[in-house]
Amino acid sequence: TLPRVYVSRKVPPQGLEILRKSGQVQIELWDSDDPVPRQELLKKVKGCDGLLCVLTEKIDAELLNAAGPKLKVVSTMSVGFDHLSLDELKKRGIRVGYTPEVLTDAVAELTVALLLTTSRRLIEATHEAKTGGWGTWRTLWLCGYELANSTVGILGLGRIGVAIAERLKPFKVNKFIYTDVAPRPELAEVIQAEYVSMDELARRSDFLAVCCALTPDTQGICNKNLFSKMKNTSIFINTSRGGVVNQEDLYEALSSGQIAGAGLDVTTPEPLPTSHPLFSLKNCVILPHIASASYTTRNDMSALAANNLLAGLRGEPMPKELQL
Ligand code: GLV
Ligand code: GLV
Repeated sequence: TLPRVYVSRKVPPQGLEILRKSGQVQIELWDSDDPVPRQELLKKVKGCDGLLCVLTEKIDAELLNAAGPKLKVVSTMSVGFDHLSLDELKKRGIRVGYTPEVLTDAVAELTVALLLTTSRRLIEATHEAKTGGWGTWRTLWLCGYELANSTVGILGLGRIGVAIAERLKPFKVNKFIYTDVAPRPELAEVIQAEYVSMDELARRSDFLAVCCALTPDTQGICNKNLFSKMKNTSIFINTSRGGVVNQEDLYEALSSGQIAGAGLDVTTPEPLPTSHPLFSLKNCVILPHIASASYTTRNDMSALAANNLLAGLRGEPMPKELQL
């Protein structure tokens, strides 16, 4: 009998086609746009050989115990892996696939869009135009900050950070600076970015883009300490994970004018309750985690997740395997 796989979300068609056409697996699908309830997931994974999941599913000891010893491969349709307990997976010898690279362009485009939306106050501006605030042309009304001659800071320089910088360069950015656990000279060279400390990144950046993975080391690193060193004309952008940011401290920095604005594609929790104080701030633009949301990219992510899963079940190297 064929290996059994559970697909915990209705993923875009390319991925499902690949699984179906392979003839290699028996598929059970949670055929919905909404997350599978936890209890249902725990029941369905029992006895599975493979699991294809998305970032709303916590893959932890409880789930792996529920799945049992046949589970060989977990393939997540995401580049982020903070929803996976890597220690627990490693302990059980379970291989993990993820989806880097195919989403880099889409995420970089969205990050630039969010940055400009925030710095040039586009949401406020359309609101004013629509609701009668547009009394006349005014000299300093809805003024923002420009990229020309600016310093752009990147917190966590990887493929996505480089892709963002490459797109911002034509806007006449003066200087790219970055910080990370260690210098990344090959990546930095591409955008001629200077390696600096976290303190210097905060102090010098006119635009600070967070591009790191969420790990125990990066949890909450964008906090009071960082915001207090930033310029009051600076813009903070996060398209990585909400957990990197201390949201109480960000609220304080935005409402007190310590920084000029923030654009967030990710929050804690998701969805962010509509009553959250951050939604009351004009200088905070919040998107519902859509950085990779282009038709092409989401299909490519589902295809890669499917191919990772199939390769893993065959005992072959995965196209994109996370090294545990
Ligand atoms: C999206 O946030 C992803 O991790 O792919
Ligand atoms: C230039 O690198 C600056 O510090 O603004």
